[in-house]
Amino acid sequence: MPDNSYTTTNTGTPVAADSQSLTVGADGAIPLIDSYLTEKLAHFNRERVPERVVHAKGGGAFGTFETTEDVSRFTRAALFQQGATTEMLARFSTVAGEQGSPDTWRDPRGFALKFYTSEGNYDLVGNNTPVFFIRDGIKFPDFIHSQKRLPGSNLRNNDMQWDFWSQSPESAHQVTWLMGDRGLPASWRKMDGFGSHTYQWINAEGERFWVKYHFKTNQGIEVLSADQAAEIAGQDADFHQHDLYTNIAEGNFPTWTLSVQVMPYEDAKTYRFNPFDVTKVWPHGDYPLIKVGTMTLNRNAENYFAQIEQATFSPANFVPGIAASPDRMLQARIFSYADAQRYRVGVNHAQLPVNAAKTQVNSYSKDGAARIDFPPADRPVYAPNSFGGPHADPARAAESTGWQNDGELLRTSATLHPEDDDFGQAGTLYRDVMDDAAKARLLAQIIGHVGAVVNDEIRARAIAYWSNVDIELGAKLGAALATRLAV
Ligand code: HEM
Repeated sequence: MPDNSYTTTNTGTPVAADSQSLTVGADGAIPLIDSYLTEKLAHFNRERVPERVVHAKGGGAFGTFETTEDVSRFTRAALFQQGATTEMLARFSTVAGEQGSPDTWRDPRGFALKFYTSEGNYDLVGNNTPVFFIRDGIKFPDFIHSQKRLPGSNLRNNDMQWDFWSQSPESAHQVTWLMGDRGLPASWRKMDGFGSHTYQWINAEGERFWVKYHFKTNQGIEVLSADQAAEIAGQDADFHQHDLYTNIAEGNFPTWTLSVQVMPYEDAKTYRFNPFDVTKVWPHGDYPLIKVGTMTLNRNAENYFAQIEQATFSPANFVPGIAASPDRMLQARIFSYADAQRYRVGVNHAQLPVNAAKTQVNSYSKDGAARIDFPPADRPVYAPNSFGGPHADPARAAESTGWQNDGELLRTSATLHPEDDDFGQAGTLYRDVMDDAAKARLLAQIIGHVGAVVNDEIRARAIAYWSNVDIELGAKLGAALATRLAV
């Protein structure tokens, strides 16, 4: 785009030269008064913000969500009222890899959504898997450390990964997903997304329900083989970014159909699994999918840094009609994301255009680094006040978004639900969902992965772990590794 305007300093003064520093004579020293040079270098030195501590590598796009069905009997959220269309942003990512790492490494994929609703922003920060590795947020830093790099060699390490997993049997369901075909999606467009946690929906009458979100890709599920993924990783580390960007640029807009599983509030107490355990799914036979609407991604970011890198998604961002649940992981996340973002992007990150609500923000928070917006000078800066400043919404106070709780303060993993073992659903996924070819690919992947474990005790525990998922699978793994070690 031709532009005849002058280059300026960051404060708008036209500059004398784009390419020559100020020098004392042609070969002389550069005086400190070349403030344009120092501004350029100093700003450049600060171009990067810290990468996300997890999910650092990713990409995204803008789009819309349209609610096509009537689900008002379950939620009063404005965005989920039939006919509502809401602007939104999606960001997809790998979990453990750093910013430049290949898109096709085996990993769960992040599926983070921000809806700019008429009642403020709603963020749903999920993955392409319906479950997770752990069920208590207190383990998250340890889990992620085991997935990242050794402090000395700076290498990723299978011993660490299996040491953690084999001592965290609740991970079996998610690890079975990860080592199976779904661990290598062919593109972000061709994978499903899940809210994973159980959330709460509240209808206009104040009735509460427990819900799980399922975004089914309308492009069809497609996965890569391990060999394809490895080859692509070497050729094009940004393979998934390319795919999404190019398809949207060409007008080939990907869509997903959102359905929810809805559990009546009272069922939770007696359901066969703990419905708030993010390592478990609710079988569809128990709670079938109920269609809600369609998500379409139709607009690439104009500036990756401003609109994707600085995007901040947080499971704490709910809107009226949607709330948290007793899921311990979800509750830990409700603290963690906003805290990470105050550090990563800054305390005023919610004011950046990509994060800003499309509704008026009437918060009493003020000041802090890089504050952009401010209320009129005559608006009171505290509540309650006698001068007509914003006040809390009595309708929200009347809405119960909690749940009944009593008991001692405890630290326990005990469960009250009859089928809450760690391996049952992983075994069902292996035996009942995978066909023979998928089972064979899973076994080959595990043989390679566990086979790279050096420590005998950890390797033995990993074999026992897979025997607990499925006795035959464990036996095949044990036999294959014994043969390998004997060679
Ligand atoms: C990103 C923490 C579990 C999905 C992040 C970030 C943190 C974090 C600190 C970086 C946020 C930022 O810098 O903007 C945690 C903790 C967890 C947890 C403490 C457990 C207690 C989960 C689970 C899921 C998930 C269960 C999915 C179901 C994501 C996604 C992102 C992310 C998709 C990237 C969001 C984006 O695209 O910006 N997580 N996480 N996390 N997490 Fe988690």
